[in-house]
Amino acid sequence: MATRKIVKIGDETLRKVCRPQEKFDLRLHVLLKDMADTMYKAEGVGLAAPQVGILRRIAVVDVTEDHSGLKELINPEILESSGTQTGREGCLSVPERQGVVTRPMKVKVRFQDRHGNWMRLETEGFEARAICHELDHLDGVLYVDKMDRELTEEEIEGEIPEDKQQN
Ligand code: NI
Repeated sequence: MATRKIVKIGDETLRKVCRPQEKFDLRLHVLLKDMADTMYKAEGVGLAAPQVGILRRIAVVDVTEDHSGLKELINPEILESSGTQTGREGCLSVPERQGVVTRPMKVKVRFQDRHGNWMRLETEGFEARAICHELDHLDGVLYVDKMDRELTEEEIEGEIPEDKQQN
């Protein structure tokens, strides 16, 4: 297992617009493996390449507890989104903070897999939230830029009304 150092808020790397990934080679496969390892070790549900200092349009997402739902998204684009969900959100690049963010409830995404094949994915709820969050990273956007409010330390530990909201 190889993990990489996670870039933290304040570093300009997180504010750049990433370039498309053009090569689907071993180097990409190593990066994808390292990104998944780094995400799992940090107990995150998503990680974008700029968070490990690579300015390419690549993200990994896995919202399952048993690490069975890994999605590798290369050059992803949101084709359609619908509905809204308002809930708590954090980021491995923004340690010990959380905010309330409104996102689409459902998204339809187009992306390339590790071999360069174009794929489509339709998802909703927490996975849709995670995907939107990671795609923002590829354009230099952090959740703190669009949060409705920042949670207090107490709220991070406890419950907030939004936790119960379904849509
Ligand atoms: Ni993030």
